[in-house]
Amino acid sequence: MTGTVTIDVHLDPDDMERALREDVRNGLTADPKTLPPKWFYDDRGSQLFDEITRLPEYYPTRREREILDARAGDIARASGAHTLVELGSGTSTKTRLLLDALRDVGTLEVFAPFDCSEATLRDAGDAIADAYPGVDVHGVVGDFERHLALLPGTEDTGTRLVAFLGGTIGNLAPAERAKFLSELAGVLTEGEHLLLGTDLVKDRDRLVAAYDDSAGVTAAFNRNVLDVINRSLGADFAPARFTHVAAWNDEDEWIEMRLRSDGAQHVRIVDLGLDIAFASGEEMRTEISAKFRREGVEAELAEAGFGLEHWWTDSHGDFALSLSTRH
Ligand code: SAH
Ligand code: TRP
Repeated sequence: MTGTVTIDVHLDPDDMERALREDVRNGLTADPKTLPPKWFYDDRGSQLFDEITRLPEYYPTRREREILDARAGDIARASGAHTLVELGSGTSTKTRLLLDALRDVGTLEVFAPFDCSEATLRDAGDAIADAYPGVDVHGVVGDFERHLALLPGTEDTGTRLVAFLGGTIGNLAPAERAKFLSELAGVLTEGEHLLLGTDLVKDRDRLVAAYDDSAGVTAAFNRNVLDVINRSLGADFAPARFTHVAAWNDEDEWIEMRLRSDGAQHVRIVDLGLDIAFASGEEMRTEISAKFRREGVEAELAEAGFGLEHWWTDSHGDFALSLSTRH
């Protein structure tokens, strides 16, 4: 029997617009200018990201899939989860390996994807419900930096395994990451599990290529945030006049995505009553993607209240999946 699909929406359009206005005002009036990453994922942004995952230079998706392929059974048995929660779930493509393994172990009852992109979440939720009869889908449209308290709880869902894949945790700055992990620990019960995907520090050229592909998909993804602002806040960014930049920051061990102004230009943001000047060559930071080492991940998890139980890497040592318990 096909399971039910329920979607809780904790981010309504007004809420999103308020948050976007505040982020854009703060970011564009700061020095240096920044733009907040979560606004990348409108419908087009989600599609572009999906294309990124298939690019030859973008290794993280393939490496993480290799680990899931090898370890999904171990993960399912170790967690014994009735509910698989997935944060930043996107299309939940790789997640099917976990769903298969949990189904085979016989414990799976609920899949709870959580994403800020409502259309993507609904499509993924429907597709999973069709493919996994007997599994109820309980999706949440929310911001994992603000709405973790609203995760489907234990009363109705049994033991949870929370998956946070794709290296998305690396898109949070260190202080935000610490806050996110302790909040997550705070909503879990002792013995529940976290499966965390982290991209690892490696050769600079491979890292930069993964974020500056030759087909220009990542560049289009980066510039798409300007279209989002144009459409939602009545701005007149000319995306073609900004160049995509991906740079490795060796001290912080993260990739920085930036947009560089081609020539001096002004951008008007009608809904904010702002006129922003860009100097020629001025760069604004749009995203970081931190790369990790085992000691760092283990320490950050411990600090938040998680004990590392397993650390698995792919055959190239590019990417890691860690399984930890809330203690
Ligand atoms: N897990 C998938 C997708 C990763 S892309 C994979 O591994 O391929 C990151 C996903 O996180 C996108 O679907 C985006 O919409 C979502 N996301 C980004 N910031 C978010 C936030 N603050 N709250 C909730 N979802 C967020
Ligand atoms: N979580 C992905 C990562 O850090 C997101 C991502 C991939 C991304 N490519 C990007 C974000 C380009 C911004 C720009 O790998």
